[in-house]
Amino acid sequence: MSDDDVTAQALRDAGHLKWTVSGPGLLGACAAEMDYGTAPPVTAALAEALRKNLLGYLPPGLAGGLGEACADWQRRAYGWDVAPADIRLLPDVVRAFHVAVEHFSRPGSPVIVPVPTFTPFLTVPGLLGRRVIEVGLVRSGSRYVYDLDALDRAYRQGGHLLVLCNPHNPLGRVLDAGELTAISEVVDRHGGRVFSDEVHAPLVYAGHRHVPYASTSSAAAHHTLTAVSASKAWNIAGLKCAQMVLTNDADRARWEGLGRLATDGTSILGVVAGTAAYRDGAAWLDGVRARLDRNRRLLRDLLRDHLPDVGYLPPEGTYLGWLDCRRLGLPGPDLAAFFRSEAGVTTVDGGSCGAPGRGFVRLNFATTEPILTRIVRRMADAVHRRASAMPAPGPRDFARQTT
Ligand SMILES: Cc1ncc(COP(=O)(O)O)c(C=O)c1O
Repeated sequence: MSDDDVTAQALRDAGHLKWTVSGPGLLGACAAEMDYGTAPPVTAALAEALRKNLLGYLPPGLAGGLGEACADWQRRAYGWDVAPADIRLLPDVVRAFHVAVEHFSRPGSPVIVPVPTFTPFLTVPGLLGRRVIEVGLVRSGSRYVYDLDALDRAYRQGGHLLVLCNPHNPLGRVLDAGELTAISEVVDRHGGRVFSDEVHAPLVYAGHRHVPYASTSSAAAHHTLTAVSASKAWNIAGLKCAQMVLTNDADRARWEGLGRLATDGTSILGVVAGTAAYRDGAAWLDGVRARLDRNRRLLRDLLRDHLPDVGYLPPEGTYLGWLDCRRLGLPGPDLAAFFRSEAGVTTVDGGSCGAPGRGFVRLNFATTEPILTRIVRRMADAVHRRASAMPAPGPRDFARQTT
């Protein structure tokens, strides 16, 4: 076995979701987890918590410490001044979205979701009895942008809460201040609200800068709920600790009235880990960002060499590649199913991210360089086999396949 076979096997043996979700021998590029562990200060803080048996209910002092660490991170990383007391805890960002829809948008109003998007933004509103108005993000030169006219129409159709995902999953866009201001003007004109998901903010590459949406103007602060978390950048999603940043008095008052059912569930270890990440995790994060930066370019080079018909714009932030496979002539509609069964690679099907995602797959490149290389080679082999109608090896052979 090669070193990267050993690595892939170790990741499977460890039981990570990305590596175990669909069967033996598959290479994992689906769920948004990184193959890099977490920052040593986070591991040390967790070990110390275990040593002290800090496994009970969440004490207010620890929660307050996370508020301070998160507020300090927002100021150091993005120049955004928020009061620690305005940082409220929730178990995860999807719950934050649920709470925003249910308690902070006009009752019964449709939710405006720019697509393609992170799949729960399309599915959660339905679970809450809400309709989704999809607004397509449009290609402009070498990037995707908001269609402000379509956004305007969505508000005129009765939409109230806009989901602003920035940095964007799956497109990897990092919106600049001008784009954010233009969006906020449309929202403000209609008296709308924004749920700003900024969970990928620490994962922005050189040449781009994360601007917190609510920091762009008092109007934006007035209509926005911002969700942040250390979960993606420090790779600790399983510890269940996200934060909602409140930036206006009406929301502060409403939050006080929310019952435990809405907000309970943040874990004490998540608070310990998140606090350590924000306070002491910057150096590790710098290293991870450099590694991801190499991988987003490696992915470009691998696709150019092995799958030149696949379209790919290296993301400005996140570790997600959005691969346009429409020119490959693959059997649809589920391209992720094709790559899983024919290449032994798990991806997220673009169609699950909204209608404009059909013909695309989302590929997580937060892995080792040899594994990323094997992923693209296997995908290319599957595409070429299909083109020349050669028989596929069949899923059970992937455990022994070395390319
Ligand atoms: C844009 C976006 N929001 C939210 C989440 C979920 O984050 P959490 O696990 O912190 O809820 C993800 C996970 O991949 C994501 O990409």
